[in-house]
Amino acid sequence: MSDLLPAPAGPWLLLGSSGQIGSALLPLLKAAGYLVVAPSRQELDLRDLRALAIYLSDLQPAGILNAAAYTTVDRAESEPAPAWTLNAELPALLAAYATQQQIRLLHYSSDYVYGDDSGQWLDEQQPLAPQSVYARSKAAGDQAVLAANANALILRTSWVYAADGQNFLCTMLRLMRQQAQLQIVADQIGAPTPAALVATVSLRLLAAPVSGVLNLASRGSCSWYQFAKAILDLARQQGVSGLCCQHISEIPSSVWPAPARRPLNSRLNVTAMEQLLGERLPDWQQGLQQTFQQWLALQATS
Ligand SMILES: NC(=O)c1ccc[n+]([C@@H]2O[C@H](COP(=O)([O-])OP(=O)(O)OC[C@H]3O[C@@H](n4cnc5c(N)ncnc54)[C@H](OP(=O)(O)O)[C@@H]3O)[C@@H](O)[C@H]2O)c1
Repeated sequence: MSDLLPAPAGPWLLLGSSGQIGSALLPLLKAAGYLVVAPSRQELDLRDLRALAIYLSDLQPAGILNAAAYTTVDRAESEPAPAWTLNAELPALLAAYATQQQIRLLHYSSDYVYGDDSGQWLDEQQPLAPQSVYARSKAAGDQAVLAANANALILRTSWVYAADGQNFLCTMLRLMRQQAQLQIVADQIGAPTPAALVATVSLRLLAAPVSGVLNLASRGSCSWYQFAKAILDLARQQGVSGLCCQHISEIPSSVWPAPARRPLNSRLNVTAMEQLLGERLPDWQQGLQQTFQQWLALQATS
């Protein structure tokens, strides 16, 4: 599956266009000829599902991409209502609308829905065992989308980051210029996945005849500690100015208690995705190299 299919006519609704995945998607969609309508939170607050329903019936989109979500995993523990609205009720409404109108829906989900601690590679048939409010709300969203039997595709991804915004890469590069010692969790394993990769694959699958759930992540796996070490190595190699971090030490999750429990294992099996695409997904190290170069370019212009 190598060629992009022509973009169907009519406006495509992109929700969450200011987020990591949404902001990577927007320019790709436009370049591919999609007419994109991407309301900001100020224009359409997605906690208001009645307003969304009116928006949909006014716009009559030709397809929907839902990159919006309540992603503040720890805050969701004390603020479950908006997490539930954004992550469970919103996709349910979109899926029902998409089914009724017979239009495409692309929705994103998370490695956290698997809630696995075993270390095995997780395929799409793995039973869900979400361990936090965020994860339970995302799992409920997935189940609602699948139950609506829409022409919907759910992409489950993991450890998303980009060259700017709030994510592990940018946080590490900030801390590595502020602190001599860092302690990073070493018992959670997954695959850091650039938002740009998610967006590129999303575009290829948007008009393709595939529905249901697919995992989408970089190849390989590492711990957060190994990811941080790789970032520090790159920063040193590239001569990033102001680096003062001398040492990163490994700690278990138990030393860094957070309100929301994270699964220890986020290793997504991407075999089905690779078979569909007809190619191997890039290794996480390759994605980091590319995203790091983008980060350097942004530093040079800021
Ligand atoms: N980040 C990860 O590591 C990760 C891992 C696995 C899966 N995912 C999934 O991937 C998808 C995209 O994640 P992401 O990292 O791109 O998320 P993100 O950067 O946090 O972006 C979330 C988007 O949702 C919007 N949003 C949130 N609440 C809203 C509201 N009340 N009204 C309107 N818009 C609202 C945000 O708008 P504002 O800018 O106005 O806040 C933003 O555009 C989500 O489904 C997430 O669950 C993410």
